[in-house]
Amino acid sequence: MNLLSATNLSHSFDCELFSNVSLNLESKESIAIVGMSGSGKSTLLHILSTLLEPNRGTVSILEQDVYKLKTSKLASLKRNELGLVFQSHYLFKGFSAYENLEVAQILSKQKIDDNIIDKLNIKDNIEQKVTELSGGQQQRVSIARVLTKQPRLIFADEPTGNLDSKTAYEVMQLFFEYIEAKDAGMILATHDDKLANMCNKVYKLQNKELIQVK
Ligand SMILES: Nc1ncnc2c1ncn2[C@@H]1O[C@H](COP(=O)(O)OP(=O)(O)O)[C@@H](O)[C@H]1O
Ligand SMILES: [Mg+2]
Repeated sequence: MNLLSATNLSHSFDCELFSNVSLNLESKESIAIVGMSGSGKSTLLHILSTLLEPNRGTVSILEQDVYKLKTSKLASLKRNELGLVFQSHYLFKGFSAYENLEVAQILSKQKIDDNIIDKLNIKDNIEQKVTELSGGQQQRVSIARVLTKQPRLIFADEPTGNLDSKTAYEVMQLFFEYIEAKDAGMILATHDDKLANMCNKVYKLQNKELIQVK
């Protein structure tokens, strides 16, 4: 089943970042976007995940043209179907790790999955305030928060950037298990070719084009 279809995307800030970018994400599929720093990976991920309207082109998620949706429909699509794991963690800072998961649970009406807490190895920190956690622990809590929502599509921007390589590998495995179990899909931006190659497909942003390299 098609989860996302992007057609002929172009975007510029001061100068053109990329043009005619198209890609499709099917269920149970993971796509990595690689490219040098500044090539536009984060921008493309923002466009694909409904956060930034492109200068040209369309993004359809679950057959809905997202930049033509009414605000309320877009909000419910984001709340129910999309999971964003971005560099700024968007955790509620005054809350504990567990309270952050509870917020996700309430908003999405899903259950907190102890298996996710176990696998992300945050059990011992779950009652601590987010501000007391290390960058890597915060990153794992934000991944737990996103998976608690049970999204159909996961968008992740350098999701393992603060993690050591063993933990990064385990986190990636957790994403893949989740995608398989829930018929979900993931688009990941990373500068790490090894992590990228764990995904089904790899695209590279280079010379303002998106080229499939795997
Ligand atoms: N909101 C913005 N306004 C102006 N320029 C931006 C904005 N966001 C990103 N850029 C510029 O776009 C280019 C690509 O940035 P980004 O998408 O973050 O690349 P990457 O994630 O590959 O490092 C950079 O030159 C950056 O400065
Ligand atoms: Mg980036």
